[in-house]
Amino acid sequence: MTAGTVLVLGADGYLGWATCLHLSAGGYQVIAADSLVRRRWDRECGTRSLIPIRSMPERVRLWQKLTGRRIAWSRLDLGDASAVADLVAQAQPEAVVHFAEQRSAPFSMIDRAHAAMTQANNVIGTLNLLFALRDHAPDTHLIKLGTMGEYGTPNIDIEEGFITINHNGRSDRLPFPMQPGSFYHLSKLHDSHNIQFCCRVWGLRATDLHQGVVYGWRTDEIDAHPGLRTRFDYDAIWGTVLNRFCVQAAVGLPLTVYGKGGQTRGFLDIRDTVACVRLALQNPPANGEYRVFNQFTEQFSVAGLAAKVSDARTAHDLKTSIVHLPNPRVEREDHYYNARHQRLLDLGLQPHYLADTLIDSVIAMTQRYGGRVDPVELEQPNVDWRRGGVPWRTPSTKQEALRPVQVLSAGANRRSGAATPSPKARLAQAR
Ligand SMILES: NC(=O)c1ccc[n+]([C@@H]2O[C@H](COP(=O)([O-])OP(=O)(O)OC[C@H]3O[C@@H](n4cnc5c(N)ncnc54)[C@H](O)[C@@H]3O)[C@@H](O)[C@H]2O)c1
Repeated sequence: MTAGTVLVLGADGYLGWATCLHLSAGGYQVIAADSLVRRRWDRECGTRSLIPIRSMPERVRLWQKLTGRRIAWSRLDLGDASAVADLVAQAQPEAVVHFAEQRSAPFSMIDRAHAAMTQANNVIGTLNLLFALRDHAPDTHLIKLGTMGEYGTPNIDIEEGFITINHNGRSDRLPFPMQPGSFYHLSKLHDSHNIQFCCRVWGLRATDLHQGVVYGWRTDEIDAHPGLRTRFDYDAIWGTVLNRFCVQAAVGLPLTVYGKGGQTRGFLDIRDTVACVRLALQNPPANGEYRVFNQFTEQFSVAGLAAKVSDARTAHDLKTSIVHLPNPRVEREDHYYNARHQRLLDLGLQPHYLADTLIDSVIAMTQRYGGRVDPVELEQPNVDWRRGGVPWRTPSTKQEALRPVQVLSAGANRRSGAATPSPKARLAQAR
């Protein structure tokens, strides 16, 4: 089967690369683009993917060698409006899948510069893409990765993008009220408004995937060869919560829950991310339509997730402890949460629900790369929502750079080392 051309933006990232492979395997002509800025942010923060990842040229070459399928690779910054316009005009894609944003909430809360950079990168990049589509490919389907974090945690059920409101005897279907929880999440909401506006005014068509938190590292395509692996973040800046807990369990450190752990969110397996994107692609909206799909498969509280990881360890007679750290974020820790997520199921999504076997597989992978785990990055929340934080530049200056930040630890003297052993010492003990 040969399907159309799809432009995947953010192709070097955790989800972008997995999606490139999945769509290429499905017969799409994939053009993969990325500025590689995430590799630079890693260097700035002294962080790195737990799984070593190859360069984009190496990965696309390997994929072609293994499957005969070509993924065209292009280094492109969405901030460069004329380069974006040229690529869209030349490719005339059936769809653009847009992952290319700064996606860490803590990174966006470090200081003014990081907040501004996050919003400029994300909002202007998306705006450049919208203008390119209007001028050069107005029928192209824009599939944009948004986040469930745009909604916040209202005390009512969360609908898929819109809600019907009756007010003073009149009724309308209106965008669901949004209460994002960081400058990053706000950037996604600003994108949503711009995209919705462009559909209404220019007749573009778009699917805004309000995605939950993703976990896992394997897809059918990634499994074809170790050289095809996608990045896997585990640290306090970039790591998503379940991935982080699995790494903590694997190296014998306590699972660190922020605050009470009642914070409830939607979650999904990376295999379902790629399937959802394909389903949206195969079922495009009409011209002028802006639609929202809530893209997650299950809801968990943070404490509930920690308990699941701990139970999975107990099944192998391994003990895992859980500690509660003062919450660096400003968020409700005990709240109502019930979000609808029906539209992708209606299109045929067959969810992979979280099972002990998945947790075991992530832990096994982590143990393979245990030597690459930096326990300070793993355990220590380093950005406080009220006070910001100081990014480290190189691993050797990390401790120095972190000094001005409020110490957030379970033990009062973790950093001074008096009462609680340091993360490094505990890691050494655990080994
Ligand atoms: N990972 C999750 O759990 C999750 C959850 C909800 C939503 N999302 C959304 O999915 C998307 C992808 O997330 P991810 O986890 O793969 O992130 P990632 O950081 O692994 O990948 C993002 C990629 O985008 C690239 N990029 C950033 N700005 C760019 C620009 N201006 N021009 C070109 N490339 C640029 C980066 O270099 C990086 O390779 C993001 O938009 C994120 O907001 C992710």
